[in-house]
Amino acid sequence: PLVSMKDMLITAKENSYAVGQFNLNNLEFTQAILQAAEEEKSPVILGVSEGAARYMGGFKTTVKMVEGLMEDYNITVPVAIHLDHGSSYDKCKEAIDAGFTSVMIDASHDPFEENIATTSKVVEYAHSKNVSVEAELGTVGGQEDDVIADGVIYADPKECQELVERTGIDCLAPALGSVHGPYKGEPNLGFKEMEEIGAATGLPLVLHGGTGIPTKDIQKAISYGTAKINVNTENQIASAKKVREVLAENTEMYDPRKYLGPAREAIKATVIGKMREFGSSNKA
Ligand code: G3H
Ligand code: ZN
Repeated sequence: PLVSMKDMLITAKENSYAVGQFNLNNLEFTQAILQAAEEEKSPVILGVSEGAARYMGGFKTTVKMVEGLMEDYNITVPVAIHLDHGSSYDKCKEAIDAGFTSVMIDASHDPFEENIATTSKVVEYAHSKNVSVEAELGTVGGQEDDVIADGVIYADPKECQELVERTGIDCLAPALGSVHGPYKGEPNLGFKEMEEIGAATGLPLVLHGGTGIPTKDIQKAISYGTAKINVNTENQIASAKKVREVLAENTEMYDPRKYLGPAREAIKATVIGKMREFGSSNKA
């Protein structure tokens, strides 16, 4: 069923695993992620950036595609459809009105007081519709669609605690050195701050930029209260690699089903690997 992420993440935190947010880019990504979740008996969060929603047609198309697939595939595991890096109150409201069960309001680039004001407004509307809310503090490095970071700023634990208390969000993404897209060298995550923020807020934490984080760091993050890990680039790389391979081996091929079908399998295998690594398999 389509649900908010609230209970999913509370249960994950209590039982020391993390639920993966896997981003949708097109139909095949959606199919692969839903199939992986059902096969693994894992809860799952479908992340949709504003850019990806635009590419797929809009928020309504995205919701209806997910609902259609869940029906056709007889999906029994909990699924949340979540706006990733929502840029404004209006965008969050638009997604909620289209049927999203969860939203992220990313006002992390705004001054602290503005972040609190915008986030509070989103929480008020979202909670009235049983929709969960994620907020962010600090900056995630790299680039994701329209979101470009100038420099990586670590979230401040005191500000995190204050933001949580004053807004009533359901989960928090404190940026602590993670990066969207591949890492240049080993990631250097602020685990000391993560532990402090997890303890001070008591909320499930979110780790953005899940691509390329070594398993030992994933495990450490989970032990410090991370209950949601976002992955996009790794699936994109697996999919593009497979398309390149298939088309290079079959220079006369033109039916998209013949190269996107194998790409879908590659995405599915990648997602299954992540679910096992995050410990969410057999938790639905
Ligand atoms: O919000 C989405 C994620 O943070 C994705 O990060 O593309 O580096 O896996 P990634
Ligand atoms: Zn992100």
